[in-house]
Amino acid sequence: VRSTRLLSAFLGLALVAAAAGEVELPVPDGVLPPEIPADNPLSAAKVELGRKLYFDARLSAKGNMACATCHSPATGFADPRGQKTSAGGDGRFGPRNTPTTLNAAFLAEQFWDGRAATLEEQAVLPFINPIEMGVPDHPALERLVAGLPDYPPLFRAAFGDEEVSVDRIGKAIASFERTLISLSAPIDRFLAGDQAAIGEAAKRGWELFNGKARCNTCHGHVGAFPLFTDELYHNIGVGTKDVDFEALAKRAREAAVSPEAFEKLAFEEAASALGRFVVTREQKDIGAFKTSPLRNVALTAPYMHDGSEATLLAVVELYDRGGEPNPYLDGGMRPLGLTEAEKADLVELMKTFTSDDLERFQELVELMPE
Ligand code: HEC
Ligand code: HEC
Repeated sequence: VRSTRLLSAFLGLALVAAAAGEVELPVPDGVLPPEIPADNPLSAAKVELGRKLYFDARLSAKGNMACATCHSPATGFADPRGQKTSAGGDGRFGPRNTPTTLNAAFLAEQFWDGRAATLEEQAVLPFINPIEMGVPDHPALERLVAGLPDYPPLFRAAFGDEEVSVDRIGKAIASFERTLISLSAPIDRFLAGDQAAIGEAAKRGWELFNGKARCNTCHGHVGAFPLFTDELYHNIGVGTKDVDFEALAKRAREAAVSPEAFEKLAFEEAASALGRFVVTREQKDIGAFKTSPLRNVALTAPYMHDGSEATLLAVVELYDRGGEPNPYLDGGMRPLGLTEAEKADLVELMKTFTSDDLERFQELVELMPE
């Protein structure tokens, strides 16, 4: 995954430069810009349409749920409602914790199990998920959008004519999401050489992160890709208590090989615990989830794919125990023997991953639906 990203680095740069006249992405020097598909070049008109779609609660079965309801700019683009997982428009809770859409543009694969390859592909799924926005199907979504008089002119501006298609909806939302970039935090200034950018506890935390606590083996920091994730999938023993993985895996193998089947399975309460296996069907991926990027992590409690850890300290305690034992636990997980002070230092470190330029998104907070 990473090597593909690096290979396409020059291409990506060229595309961003070509679009720069219209839309500037705030990507710091030395950081690989997000990949932009050749068939969806960035434009200001598409970003504007995508922004409107992202905040529009009318585009749900009950008229009460937008992307922003779960991915709110007021709370680091994660769910402001403070539950372990997110409730959809009809009040039912899904099995998974809402990840942030901030910096998602940099990720090679979307979702905790990576089942969507691009932002375009991902963006059209929540509309028709019964426990999210609940529109019956994509043709119904197209009719819904086309019937709202404010949209056709925006489609004309973005795509040249007023045709509303699910493909265009995905492209517009993805374009908007590519502008949700923030890579300016105290840790960045510290790594650039400013010793005063973070406190002593956080500095000790950084030593631990890359040493005794071994966090960097999965959440390593790379200058060109500073998201603190290897973009791989690991079973670290989250939510594995009382799970019969063998029975679940058998059911997953029996399920049809189609994106819709994956989607359904991932959102089924029990099967959600299978993680990446649903996508690859490889034994090693049972209970494995994408290594979370750690940017702005202090803003997006609770933690883990099922929201099972309430605080950053609880997360560190889980690692200190070596994760929850289960037959598929990642070989890199082992008890760490951290002292209480060391645990606190790791938490202080993670607080320095919080962006300090988030007021840039203040105007988006004002677009939040009721
Ligand atoms: C009801 C809450 C809810 C709504 C509404 C919702 N999402 Fe999400 N979103 C989630 C959850 C939960 C996940 C994780 C699901 C999984 O991984 O299986 C997710 C995952 C994502 C991801 C992947 C991020 C990553 O790091 O992998 C993106 C991008 C995203 N959503 C964008 C959107 C967009 C765009 C919309 C509107 C079209 C939307 N979401 C609507 C809850 C929601
Ligand atoms: C073996 C790889 C691995 C190691 C080592 C590792 N992590 Fe993780 N981390 C992951 C994976 C995978 C997830 C998501 C797991 C899930 O939800 O099932 C995760 C999730 C997290 C989260 C939750 C993020 C969120 O948004 O929910 C935090 C915080 C975190 N890790 C911090 C750390 C710290 C601190 C260390 C070192 C003490 C560490 N990790 C070591 C792989 C790893």
